[in-house]
Amino acid sequence: MVDHLYDRYLTMQTTENTVISDIKVCGQGTLIPIFNGKHARYINLDNAASTPALIYVQEKVNEFLSWYSSVHRGAGFKSLLSTHTMEAGRNQLMEFVGADSEEDCVIFVKNTTEAINKLANRLELTKDDVVLTTLMEHHSNDLPWRSKARTLHVETLEDGTLDLFDLEQKIDRHKGRLRLVTVTGASNVTGIMPPIYDIAELAHAAGAQILVDCAQLAPHRKIVMGPTTSPRHLDFIALSGHKMYAPFGTGALIGSKRIFSKGVPDYTGGGTIEVVTRDKVYWTSPPHSDEAGSPNVVGVIALNASLYVLSSIGMEAVARHESELTAYALEKLNQLKGIQIFGSTKEVSLNDRLGVIAFSVAGVPHAKVASILSFEGGIGVRNGCFCAHPYVLRLLGISPEDVEIHISYVLNGDRSQLPGLVRVSIGIYNTLADIDVFTAMLEKIISGDYQDDYVVNPTTGEYMPSNFDTRLLEQYFHS
Ligand code: ALA
Repeated sequence: MVDHLYDRYLTMQTTENTVISDIKVCGQGTLIPIFNGKHARYINLDNAASTPALIYVQEKVNEFLSWYSSVHRGAGFKSLLSTHTMEAGRNQLMEFVGADSEEDCVIFVKNTTEAINKLANRLELTKDDVVLTTLMEHHSNDLPWRSKARTLHVETLEDGTLDLFDLEQKIDRHKGRLRLVTVTGASNVTGIMPPIYDIAELAHAAGAQILVDCAQLAPHRKIVMGPTTSPRHLDFIALSGHKMYAPFGTGALIGSKRIFSKGVPDYTGGGTIEVVTRDKVYWTSPPHSDEAGSPNVVGVIALNASLYVLSSIGMEAVARHESELTAYALEKLNQLKGIQIFGSTKEVSLNDRLGVIAFSVAGVPHAKVASILSFEGGIGVRNGCFCAHPYVLRLLGISPEDVEIHISYVLNGDRSQLPGLVRVSIGIYNTLADIDVFTAMLEKIISGDYQDDYVVNPTTGEYMPSNFDTRLLEQYFHS
């Protein structure tokens, strides 16, 4: 009854059975400045880094701001409504990822990085414990473990896929000490999707738990954490709203309440306690014990609005649309001379890869390719090592001796020679026409048909048109 009262004030409405072509994101087709005073419509092919907000998310946030008040702290109607909406948001996220409603909880954090650091802090690991991560991970699923436990890396094969033989061997060898296997749901460099449910089974058989970093996977494929009684269930997952069309500063760590019921929260303060006296503290239960300070309810509203849209389209339809674009992009890239694709180039299967493609252009530095795409094509991509240095160095086959040389350059402030790749990454709102514009511009780069007036900044490693003036940026937006 009370729930219905609050729901009347904040209604989630999209049309039933939303289809992909209904999807609109903020700033789609914005005119941006390119070379020589011209303008182009912006094409965002950098969704692996961050996705634009869905228009629906923007509208929902806007609607909510009139109802916004403190969460868990006030007696006023707006506080009650904000608290109710935040708690309802947990249930919606649990359902979206198929979590175990009895055993699991949703802890809202800033992003995937904070989620993984929180788990690393809360697992009560010792230096005798083994954590098995992989060479495929972005740094956020590697560095947090290194200081907490003996952290080992599962190798990758030539084509960028996970070496499952090495994984099995390492699990076997460290059985007894192995506490956690932590693996990405999809690589942010090559889009490759390791078989997470099979890996879960192997980890559980060895008495370990599994964390799946779903930063890349969650916006593109259905996730089913499953009942904790299943050997194939996922113990923990981490995700970020800013990669899920809801860039309002919320992410989540989802997993067993049992883990967070023990010990002391890593951040303490308001909201984490039952009672505090001058010399005693009684911690409250998860998830609230692990959400110190005023929660970001606006971020939760945004994330839930996005989940609502993704669910009404259906993750299967999302996967089909993005796979079609990925297959098209790979086919076109494979036809271009001088393009080398890193990672698997085999036929696109819904279960093998996402629309994240890393490549190089013969004879043109990766940072220059990215800059030309931007300044002459209006196309946003990312280049470099994508916060996944070990994986990119492995994909490029750079020898340990050469790695040392690159390190010394960087430590001396020169990033102009840094190895790296160019990456395109596809989102739900991208179209075949976006891929056509991108590959047409790439063809021009390959044939040398571009303004060769770029200068590299050794400190950042970025290439910019020689006449680029940062004051131009202020003409477009200032706060
Ligand atoms: N994971 C982020 C990216 O790939 C940092 O760009």
